[in-house]
Amino acid sequence: MSLSLSADQPEAPADADDGAWLECIDCGATFAPFDDVRYTCDECDSLLEVRYADLPTFDDFEGNGQGVWRYADALPFDSGVSVQEGATPLYEVPRLEDEIGVEALRIKHEGMNPTGSFKDRGMTVGVKVAKELGVDRLACASTGNTSAALAAYGSRGGMETLVLLPAGKVAAGKIAQASLHGARILEVDGNFDACLDIVQELAAGGEAYLLNSLNPFRLEGQKTIGLEILEGFLADYDTVPDRIVLPVGNAGNTSALYKAFRELVQAGALDEADVPKLTGVQAEGAAPMVEAIENGADEVRRWDDVETRATAIRIGNPVNAPKALPGIRETDGTAVAVSDEEITEAQRDLASEGIGVEPASAASVAGLRKLRAEGIVDDDERVACLTTGHLLKDPDAAAAAGSDPEPVPADTEGVLEHLQE
Ligand code: F0G
Repeated sequence: MSLSLSADQPEAPADADDGAWLECIDCGATFAPFDDVRYTCDECDSLLEVRYADLPTFDDFEGNGQGVWRYADALPFDSGVSVQEGATPLYEVPRLEDEIGVEALRIKHEGMNPTGSFKDRGMTVGVKVAKELGVDRLACASTGNTSAALAAYGSRGGMETLVLLPAGKVAAGKIAQASLHGARILEVDGNFDACLDIVQELAAGGEAYLLNSLNPFRLEGQKTIGLEILEGFLADYDTVPDRIVLPVGNAGNTSALYKAFRELVQAGALDEADVPKLTGVQAEGAAPMVEAIENGADEVRRWDDVETRATAIRIGNPVNAPKALPGIRETDGTAVAVSDEEITEAQRDLASEGIGVEPASAASVAGLRKLRAEGIVDDDERVACLTTGHLLKDPDAAAAAGSDPEPVPADTEGVLEHLQE
């Protein structure tokens, strides 16, 4: 099976372009990567993955500058449409590490990307592909962050952008970004999954180039999150992490990190036994992946009604599930659901260590805490939690989780009096 950790390095088909091609994860059909616009398999409609004739080891990561393009050898191009994405911090959190009770805990803060989320890593590659294909209009459905990143990278690439958002369910910072970067914002009277259904149909009709994570090139850029975490742990602990905990919506990151690890194993740069356990976290009100993992199901059941304060992951139909379920299972990982209250508590805990994240991001820490309390995570594990978006993305959630401003008079005496109360 092509998604197995022990799969062999495939042979390049005749229509490979510079050693890269697209391959169906189900039927194995192969396609030239940049000749036509294509998101899924022509033969069986399953998901596609980018494949390479030559896979890099850690020593090969010396590409273009810092961040995503340093990993050019693991990507289909040497450079992209870029605003310097990647190279995000891997913060130490000594108090949280101690309180949760693991050997090591580090926070990979993807909120420190140019538009404030990990989506930038996917867009620098995806928008480059759009240029290669010669399309002029880009589109996505989004819970907010994808739309912000698409708007920024699309405008940098000189292309028109169209974003479909679930009306009333997107955090203010994200809409502001999409708006100022010049996207046309269509507010849909429905949830994210409905937006994705529509935009897929628009893309199939040739109206625009689709840049949701269904697009296999997006996930290539997002692989670099995993590569940076591994390099960071190797530098600091001389070993890769035992576990990576991440929030799950469409399961794009789960799929991308798994692909990064599979490719390192195939290149001989990582032992199969050392691959970090991929551990997905969803909000209780939107947890179809957790349901599938808990039930040992081969497929994920679409949830029509989803709700959570973590609007970024308010998703009932994770399109990358066929890639992500093997990722969780083959790495001996798991998935867990957390309540909105647990998410807010974790958001406050991260903030108390100086790390500002949006609610969906805090789900990773909330999930780790829960799994540690249940004894599923051991006290001798070295763990990385992924925080996917910046605090300022959702100012309303931050204000609700934080303390209220206190009105004071406009004189020092009055302020002192207030402070003594
Ligand atoms: N965290 C944040 C902050 C997100 O914005 C998203 C997804 C996820 C986690 C889930 O990541 O889909 O790779 O499992 N946001 C998408 C969007 C859906 O439209 O911005 P995933």
